[in-house]
Amino acid sequence: MTSECRICAGVVAEFLDLSRQPLSDAFRRPEETSPEFFYRLAVGVCETCTMVQLMEEVPREAMFHQDYPYVSQGSSVMRAHFTALAQRFLETELADDGFVVELGCNDGTMLRTIAAAGGRHLGVEPSGGVADLAAESGVRVRKDFFEESTARDILATDGPADLIYAANTVCHIPYMGSILRGVEALLSERGVFVFEDPYLGDIVEKTSFDQIYDEHFFLFSARSIDEMARRHGLELVDVERLPVHGGEVRYWLARPGARERTAAVAALLAEEAERELSSRVTLDAFATRVGKIRDDLTALLTELKERGERVVGYGATAKSATVTNLCGIGPDLVEFICDTTPAKQGRLAPGSGIPVRPPAAFAEEHPGHALLFAWNHAEEIMAKEAEFRAGGGKWILYVPEVRVV
Ligand code: SAM
Ligand code: TMP
Ligand code: ZN
Repeated sequence: MTSECRICAGVVAEFLDLSRQPLSDAFRRPEETSPEFFYRLAVGVCETCTMVQLMEEVPREAMFHQDYPYVSQGSSVMRAHFTALAQRFLETELADDGFVVELGCNDGTMLRTIAAAGGRHLGVEPSGGVADLAAESGVRVRKDFFEESTARDILATDGPADLIYAANTVCHIPYMGSILRGVEALLSERGVFVFEDPYLGDIVEKTSFDQIYDEHFFLFSARSIDEMARRHGLELVDVERLPVHGGEVRYWLARPGARERTAAVAALLAEEAERELSSRVTLDAFATRVGKIRDDLTALLTELKERGERVVGYGATAKSATVTNLCGIGPDLVEFICDTTPAKQGRLAPGSGIPVRPPAAFAEEHPGHALLFAWNHAEEIMAKEAEFRAGGGKWILYVPEVRVV
């Protein structure tokens, strides 16, 4: 199957089908009876610009709305990550009364540091509930989708932005032409567009196929972002590899010639070329490994059930929707999933119908095994739940392969 590339209009060739999937963040009330929304989750690679992208787009209003449940502040590691970055931005990009616009500011975890320092800022956040949390924490927020018209409107009201920033948001946006025209219009002459998202290189290396779901429309690489920037009158001037969320890259884009390109860009481009990251051979091998994880995980959970063992899930992540719906994991195999997010608790996980409970339910009666869906927060969660392991409990992990630790 093929589709048209959302960056360059080239041919996107499918390399992985992850089956029928629900909206990854649509946690349902137990009494809800309306049919769930499903779509076909499949991924392809553009034969022209190498951008890896979904074959089908889910309407944005179906994903990002008043009840969007994900909050950035749910992880202490991520809070520290955003606080440190905001401090760095204040010193480097915003020192001279600079203006920062953040796309997908969510609950304001990054911008609140800038707001507290009196920095000129604006968060653009379409999901009403989390935007309210940002406003309550002192962040100036506009409830809207960022796109070209929003950017022009902000420019007219606030003037040019010295920094446009986004974390885990740009890869969520299929209408990239409109985004980049907006950035081009809004950015000051020496301004930078900085965004960080899950890195294709880490996803392939770790076989972290659960990074693929409705919201993650694109899986970026330095090569695909370099091509994208060039086609839209911008230049990729720096890249930073980040350990968060299982491995991300922070990309820095500027107007051509405005900033010097760092050696890190050439180094990452060379590394990707060397490992043939976007080739069909590499991506087909990734798809084969995903099939093995699916089979191994299903077999392990079935065996544990037959032995009468209790298995509970940990972290009702968007990623877990891909895993449970691909493997056919329901409440028969995983009793419940515990999660700290209030908006997910008491609800049923999308597609699988597995109940979500607060972490207290985990500690009340530790199960024999816990399937760690939030593996990207493994250190933080395992430290918090040290008693589980001490009492003989075992964690089940499934990337880069299925194992019990
Ligand atoms: N930046 C936060 C972080 O890294 O924790 C939140 C990331 S969350 C996964 C993605 C956010 O992007 C959601 O809050 C969603 O509402 C927002 N979003 C989606 N489309 C957007 C758009 N076109 N403009 C601005 N925000 C958008
Ligand atoms: P994420 O992987 O997309 O950041 O989602 C992590 C999910 O795991 C989110 O729903 C919050 C939850 N979580 C916990 O339940 N306990 C924790 O200690 C952490 C860090 C996250
Ligand atoms: Zn393309």
